[in-house]
Order: sequence, then C-alpha cells, then structure tokens
Amino acid sequence: MKSLNLLTLIAIVLAGAAFAHTGVKNAAVKARMDAMSGIADGMKVLGQMAKGETGFDQSAAQAAATAIARHAAATPELFEAREDDPKSEAKQAIWSNFDDFTSKSRDLEEMALGLATSITGPADLGPAMASLAANCKACHKAYRE
Ligand code: HEC
Repeated sequence: MKSLNLLTLIAIVLAGAAFAHTGVKNAAVKARMDAMSGIADGMKVLGQMAKGETGFDQSAAQAAATAIARHAAATPELFEAREDDPKSEAKQAIWSNFDDFTSKSRDLEEMALGLATSITGPADLGPAMASLAANCKACHKAYRE
C-alpha cells in the first residue's frame, strides 16, 4: 500500500512534466519552469530507483537529491519578480504569500539535502520520496494552476 501511494504521488507530481513549457516567451518564466523541470528530473531518477526500474546507485541518488536541493534553493529568487506568460501556471497567490512560498521552497531544499547526505540504500528512497512529493503537492496546490 505504501509503495502504491508513493507511486501515485510521484505520477501526479510528474504528470505533464516533459512538455509543459514549450512556447514560453518570457525568459524569466522559462527559467523558473526549467528549475521545476530540473526538480522533476531528479525525482524521476529517484523514482526509477525506488521502483527498481534502475539499480540502486548511491552517487547517482545523491546527485539527483543534490540537484533537487539546488533548484529548490534557487526557486524563491526565480519567482520573486512577478513575471507572467500565457503558458505560466503560476497563481497570483505566490506574490501575496511570498514568505510562505519561500518557506515551502526551503522545506524542499532541506529535505532534499537531508536525503543527499543520509541515503545509503534503496530502502531510504521510499519514505524520503513520499515526503518530497508531499512538499511538491502542497506547493502546487496553493500556487500552481
Ligand atoms: C515552493 C513551491 C513549489 C515547490 C516546493 C514545488 N513546485 Fe513545482 N511548480 C511551482 C509553481 C508555482 C509552478 C508553475 C510555474 C509556472 O508555470 O510559471 C510549478 C511547476 C512545476 C512543473 C511544470 C514546469 C513546466 O515546465 O511548466 C513541474 C514539472 C514541477 N513544478 C515539478 C515539481 C516537483 C517534482 C516538485 C517537488 C519535488 C515541485 N515541483 C515542488 C511551485 C513549486
């Protein structure tokens, strides 16, 4: 059950990841979408290991978690200016609750860094990914169309 929930969460989070940002004109919007895609790529690497689709590789897992943390760290700055684009899914609520938006980014950064420094085997992936995915979901629910 636990892994099923996890896979469902990951599927929800990654839905539409590959081509959501084609045709974006505003470079600032494109940059923040690219950061989100980088986060999704890291989740994909971890998810494939969690599901056993790829073998567990500690340094690849650490690199994926570190990349998620790096993009999460950049998120507040990338979203700070109130940029818009017809393709953007960002809600205006971001800019009226920017402290909360920032704190959700920091939570993701800390969780991903925690995973990068603690991961020793595939069994670590499931619980860590569930927390990461819950964080994506919380922020998307509040701040993404
Ligand atoms: C602090 C808030 C926040 C967190 C945390 C967050 N996201 Fe996002 N994400 C957003 C917002 C806002 C958008 C919409 C950006 C836009 O369209 O301008 C977005 C968009 C995306 C997109 C679509 C990018 C595109 O090309 O249009 C993907 C994929 C994504 N997020 C994946 C993730 C994953 C995976 C996680 C967790 C590991 C995550 N996000 C965590 C706020 C967040």
